[in-house]
Amino acid sequence: MTDLTIHQQLQAALESFCDPETGRPLSKTGQVTDWMVADGNASCRLGLTSMVLPISVEIAERLRDHFIAKVPGLKSVDIQTDMLYRPAPAIGQIGLKAKAVIAVAAGKGGVGKSTLAAGIALTLEKLGAKVGLMDADVYGPSIPHMLGLEGRPEVVDGKIQPIRCGTMPVMSMGFLIGRDQAVVWRGPMLHGSITQFLRDTDWGELDYLIIDMPPGTGDVALTLSQLLPLAGAVIVCTPQEVALLDASKAIAMFEKTKVPILGIVENMSGFTDPESGKTFDIFGRGGARNKSEEIGVPFLGEVPIQIPLRSESDVGNLSSVLGNPRISKPFEDVCRSLVRSVTDQIAARPMSGAPLPVLG
Ligand SMILES: Nc1ncnc2c1ncn2[C@@H]1O[C@H](COP(=O)(O)OP(=O)(O)O)[C@@H](O)[C@H]1O
Ligand SMILES: [Mg+2]
Repeated sequence: MTDLTIHQQLQAALESFCDPETGRPLSKTGQVTDWMVADGNASCRLGLTSMVLPISVEIAERLRDHFIAKVPGLKSVDIQTDMLYRPAPAIGQIGLKAKAVIAVAAGKGGVGKSTLAAGIALTLEKLGAKVGLMDADVYGPSIPHMLGLEGRPEVVDGKIQPIRCGTMPVMSMGFLIGRDQAVVWRGPMLHGSITQFLRDTDWGELDYLIIDMPPGTGDVALTLSQLLPLAGAVIVCTPQEVALLDASKAIAMFEKTKVPILGIVENMSGFTDPESGKTFDIFGRGGARNKSEEIGVPFLGEVPIQIPLRSESDVGNLSSVLGNPRISKPFEDVCRSLVRSVTDQIAARPMSGAPLPVLG
């Protein structure tokens, strides 16, 4: 086979490989450039946006395998990934500029929902994505405390300025009420505050907006699903049977509002004694994995009990404790699974007429 034929077949193979962000065939998006083919060895560049940066290595590997399978005469193909910029669309009627809005939810409190929401947001950002974190737990906002954030958001040109954790914008009712103040919410107030958080906050342009949901089922999820299209929900649970039952209820609630379930995370999944290295399955283990197989939703991973996660969150250091690779590894695995799940959802429903990429 001549190099010219190989080149043509490589380009034809782009038709059956989807851009992970838009779900459209790569042949339509102009993301693969700089082809070289010599003696059956090829090379090219693949442009990817920050949204899929957390899984860019595996995307390039999958594309390479795809080329090898589709083009018989191809000896090797070297794919370099490049950063590509594609603006985030304004979504819903509220004009939020985000590529994926993800609710982190659980059937009940105390399972580590806020820890996971904050940990996922910070880790996605560390892996290269543009991320915002919204604390929708208006009954018991805990995100400011965990991240050691305080201060009152200012309003500039009619937009609420979020408080930043490093570079990541964060918005929480905790910034607006006193630390020990109890809030009695009535339906319309709840709806109004969630709307304000989404519509009137200066989020900038985001790949992911991670939303820490209040415990249980109900109001906030409904409000959210009315305001904008959610990319989906992540369900957090612990390994006990009762927690799994609660998780099933949360899943049922999202399914009722037509929000896709991006997957289940098992939190407090075993405890490894840092001294002996022995693992103790305090609340059991593997229940969430079995459950997700049973109901056919992705399993996103396990986060074990790690004492520093609790002790450092208590004093506002969650962000710095995630700098410890042993603590952050499970979060990285969960984030990669999550981005995979988001892109799988997109592939199932490709966008039409997505904006052409702008190389930058
Ligand atoms: N994997 C974990 N290892 C150790 N402590 C954890 C872990 N996940 C959560 N915690 C702790 O458990 C408590 C409840 O977590 P939190 O995220 O506030 O739960 P929720 O938002 O579901 O109510 C907090 O003290 C938190 O620091
Ligand atoms: Mg919470």
